[in-house]
Amino acid sequence: MKNKFLSQLFLFILFVICFACRSEENGIDTAKEIQYCSSQALLTLTEAPTLESIPNAIESGTSEWCYAKPGSWTSGFWPGILWYLYEGTGDKAWQNAANRVTTSLLPVTRKAVQTHDIGFITMCSLGNGYRLTGDEEYKAALLRAADSLAVLYNPIVGTILSWPRMVAIENWPHNTIIDNMMNLELLFWAAKNGGSSRLYDIAFRHAEVTMKHGFRDDYTNYHVAVYDTITGNFIKGVTHQGLSDDSMWARGQAWGIYGYTFVYRETQDIRFLEFAQKITDVYLSRLPKDGIPYWDFNASEYSSTEPRDASAAAIVASALLELSTYVADQSTAQRYRREAESMIAVLSSDVYQSRDKNSAFLLHSVGHMPRSREVDTSIIYADYYYIEALIRLQRLQQGKNVIGNK
Ligand code: GLY
Repeated sequence: MKNKFLSQLFLFILFVICFACRSEENGIDTAKEIQYCSSQALLTLTEAPTLESIPNAIESGTSEWCYAKPGSWTSGFWPGILWYLYEGTGDKAWQNAANRVTTSLLPVTRKAVQTHDIGFITMCSLGNGYRLTGDEEYKAALLRAADSLAVLYNPIVGTILSWPRMVAIENWPHNTIIDNMMNLELLFWAAKNGGSSRLYDIAFRHAEVTMKHGFRDDYTNYHVAVYDTITGNFIKGVTHQGLSDDSMWARGQAWGIYGYTFVYRETQDIRFLEFAQKITDVYLSRLPKDGIPYWDFNASEYSSTEPRDASAAAIVASALLELSTYVADQSTAQRYRREAESMIAVLSSDVYQSRDKNSAFLLHSVGHMPRSREVDTSIIYADYYYIEALIRLQRLQQGKNVIGNK
């Protein structure tokens, strides 16, 4: 009896040691970093004055969150973080917190959309919530949101109108921004979960047209592609948040890499995988040594003190972990995985983690440089994609599929 107990104890200790070694492979102890995120998020949770106060950004030099309201394009990220904390720790307290904040977003899905951003808002919050709990109310809300987003689709152009307000303000008859790629995931999800198959067709066509017109010949992105609503022709590519019309805005390229990676996952069309690799390779080839981009890749041509954008790095790290699992050539796949791990390692260093400076996870992101808004700040979506990357890496370290299922 005693011997049996001792041998079971020995096996248990061996298992713990092996697991700890695996999770520290390549120097990243994912469990420790998720624990760090958990302690920071606990502070944020106690600071937020109401459920409708959704943490958005902490300006540099301050330690207080600025809050967004449900419906703002960033309002899905905080509940999404809470869901990932539940997934990463298994602690029900995070599930309860995630449920509370996610529920506050339900009314947003009952209104007609004003922009393309409903995919960001709902997939991070309700999407993760449904994936982890199977809550039918979340599912119904996601299906409503997808139908609402589809109203902005223009079949002559073949893409979603991203910013209806900008039609008159900027004289951009039909505008589609690169960020809009991220919202296609909601349409693919809905088509697979009881929504119309037309939602799949819209997402597919949007990705095809953006592949043709949303990028230059060198695979760098235009932030905004402007189209003629009558002929459907591409008119011009311009910027809104980047340095100039012909520069590579870092987060725009990151949205593209993340977007085309999941478009391949959802369609299995090899053209999208090849395109995801092309836009990844130009991004990687132009990175500074530490793997964290300047807010716009061309900004560093003027000064090496331009702010970095940790949010772009976190988005790309998460996307590369997924992309690395689809690429058949093993040396390329391993290179993407190594690049992702090294980005996560740098983001986890004392240069980028907020630690005792504020209660966000990360410092040094840029929201909207041309408007001097959120420059070198902590931003909620950097934190969201950082914890997503940690969870994805942990899953890979444990030999699981990179994307978690229910
Ligand atoms: N609108 C999304 C972004 O600023 O990246």
